[in-house]
Amino acid sequence: KMKAFIDNLMQKMTLEEKIGQLNLVSVGFDVTGPVVSQNVNENISKGNVGGVFNTYTPIAARKLQELALKQTRLKIPLIFGYDVIHGHRTIFPIPLGLAASWDLTAVERSARIAAEEASADGLHWVYSPMVDIARDPRWGRVAEGAGEDAYLGSRMAEAMVRGYQGTDLTKENAVMACLKHFALYGASEAGRDYNTTDMSKVRMYNEYLPPYKAAVDAGVGSVMSSFNDVNGVPATANRWLLTDLLREKWGFKGFVATDYTAINELIAHGMGDEKEVAALSLKAGADMDMVGELFLKHLGEDLKNGLVKQADIDLACRRVLEGKYRLGLFKDPYHGVSEKRAKKVIMNKEFIADARDIARKSMVLLKNDNQTLPLKKSGTIALVGPLAQSQRDMIGNWSGAGDWKQAVSLEQGIKNVAGNAVKIVYAKGANIADDQQMLDRLNHHGGELVLDKRSSEEMIKEAVQVAQQADVIVAAVGESQGMTGEAASRADIGLPGQQLALLKALKATGKPLVLVLMNGRPLTLTWEDQNASAILETWFGGTQAGNAMADVLFGNYNPSGKLTMTFPRSVGQIPLYYNHKSTGRPYAGTDPMDKYKSRYLDEVNEPLYPFGFGLSYTKFEYGKPELSTTTLGQNQPLEVKVTVRNTGNYDGEEVAQLYIRDMVGSLSRPVKELKGFQKVMLKKGESRTLTFRLSPDDLKFYNNDLNFVAEPGDFQVMVGGNSRDVQMAGFKLQ
Ligand code: IFM
Repeated sequence: KMKAFIDNLMQKMTLEEKIGQLNLVSVGFDVTGPVVSQNVNENISKGNVGGVFNTYTPIAARKLQELALKQTRLKIPLIFGYDVIHGHRTIFPIPLGLAASWDLTAVERSARIAAEEASADGLHWVYSPMVDIARDPRWGRVAEGAGEDAYLGSRMAEAMVRGYQGTDLTKENAVMACLKHFALYGASEAGRDYNTTDMSKVRMYNEYLPPYKAAVDAGVGSVMSSFNDVNGVPATANRWLLTDLLREKWGFKGFVATDYTAINELIAHGMGDEKEVAALSLKAGADMDMVGELFLKHLGEDLKNGLVKQADIDLACRRVLEGKYRLGLFKDPYHGVSEKRAKKVIMNKEFIADARDIARKSMVLLKNDNQTLPLKKSGTIALVGPLAQSQRDMIGNWSGAGDWKQAVSLEQGIKNVAGNAVKIVYAKGANIADDQQMLDRLNHHGGELVLDKRSSEEMIKEAVQVAQQADVIVAAVGESQGMTGEAASRADIGLPGQQLALLKALKATGKPLVLVLMNGRPLTLTWEDQNASAILETWFGGTQAGNAMADVLFGNYNPSGKLTMTFPRSVGQIPLYYNHKSTGRPYAGTDPMDKYKSRYLDEVNEPLYPFGFGLSYTKFEYGKPELSTTTLGQNQPLEVKVTVRNTGNYDGEEVAQLYIRDMVGSLSRPVKELKGFQKVMLKKGESRTLTFRLSPDDLKFYNNDLNFVAEPGDFQVMVGGNSRDVQMAGFKLQ
């Protein structure tokens, strides 16, 4: 049916109308590069536009859609896209935080709510999930992904696609997901945004590509090509990537949009002039040109000059029309949008309650000496730090339609949860960054950061005086939201500005020091780990961040999040990730004189906090894993049973993680690979036996010929509450 409909439509289309469908324009705000889209209304009326982004609300979307429907000859509806990344109006934790919940139901729910709100706001298409595996926390965009692990990243990608798209894209509350950034953007060299990526196919297939493939298998409707080059060929001109792999190998049937002006950027990559790069990108498999307008400008002439064929243009046009057809836009170009629905749906009570709960689940307790946390709901708290009263930072980066004025700050959250039972004394203590120029850059997208002009000594002195009046210090420190996300790479990933100096002065008061961290990447926190009494990682928790933080701080919720990216001790260790190789000279870490080993002279190999790490107010103990067999046939499943006991004083949730190690292979294999996890609630004193199932497929990897194989031999199975502290058993694959 779809084919016949589109055949029929395309027969009527002129070349210009076909090229118009390939043009994706930005209405103009919230830009992340030069605004090239000009005269948008006029271009829509002329049939020069296939899709629009950076606008929403039922009224705005209807106006533009009416232009397309009333002014153009064939009345082809526009598709409306937007960067809905971690919620639309109700904002959830940044994706790195969502992933730290290890709760697929919660992650899917956040995407579902985002879809409900975005669709009610006139949008059809969201530029999410971002599934770029990243091992370099200097890269600002680690905030937008699920972290360093391909297995976890794949499960998160599937959950988000399900949440956005549901089972029927024509439903008024469904939106089409856009998988990004294809591909390997997370491996940008030195963590510098937009930089080169270069890696072996074996690494690519085993460690970076699985989440993209998982999203394709889950039926994602569209893909965004990335800015970076991949082994010398920019992704946006990379036919191997966009066609051979994505379509021919993986069977992707949707359309590919480029990233923002990525075709134009092929010129700076050294791929040719405007005409040439437009042709290159189209032939590689890009269907929609985001903002750059080079398809619009040059494809007609490229056709005349033989740089592209009619069939190339037709194919791209067909794919864009198919996307619109799948969304049901030819039947209902407004996709059921109405102000009434928007009013009912957007930021309703249920969504806000879910945002609070999901934010709590994302928080990771990194340290808790002497049960400093949970705090008592009595006495005086010195609330200190540049993030203590911030609302803007709470909703994080890429939260374009989120209204930060509706976000709950930490201070407000503490008041909401503890009420008058707790006295709060406040001091800012430090600026989030030292100089005006940095603040101006951070304010680029409408931030409200104001430099406190007092000297750092004065600010710290005031904070110390405030701390001296209190029973406990809660220091809200970290990054401003603008220090993460796109174009926000950092060479130093410690606490910015004078925050460490502030913490040192606070420590000297001798009062218990609780750090509430807000940040979008792993930070180097060695001093903080040694000196704080407790550390709670809260990311940027979204609209309900403050309430969720207070719920955790006062024990209304027992923290259950676990890191999905390794926290290094120092920048010099980067890239540092749990599933590294053994090397031929592994260092056991026990004998400092053991010189000729793979190690540093001036730093240990171990991270500060390993992948999968996170504490609880209670304690969990793991028994030895028991295997259903110790010799496994090639088609036989394996059951791994492990008993987890809550031996502490609180009910709590634990994320039990299962790792394997392939001991001998045709290629060197990682020392650990995540292959399963379960998040379970255990009452105080309760123990439960969990069963994990491994099939021989789970033991497979891409070998040197890129065949996906499980090689016979010895394997280890490891189960534990993080990637470091595990219980082990072994088996043989026959
Ligand atoms: O979706 C984003 C992408 O992640 C980065 N460049 C801009 C796009 C559209 O805003």
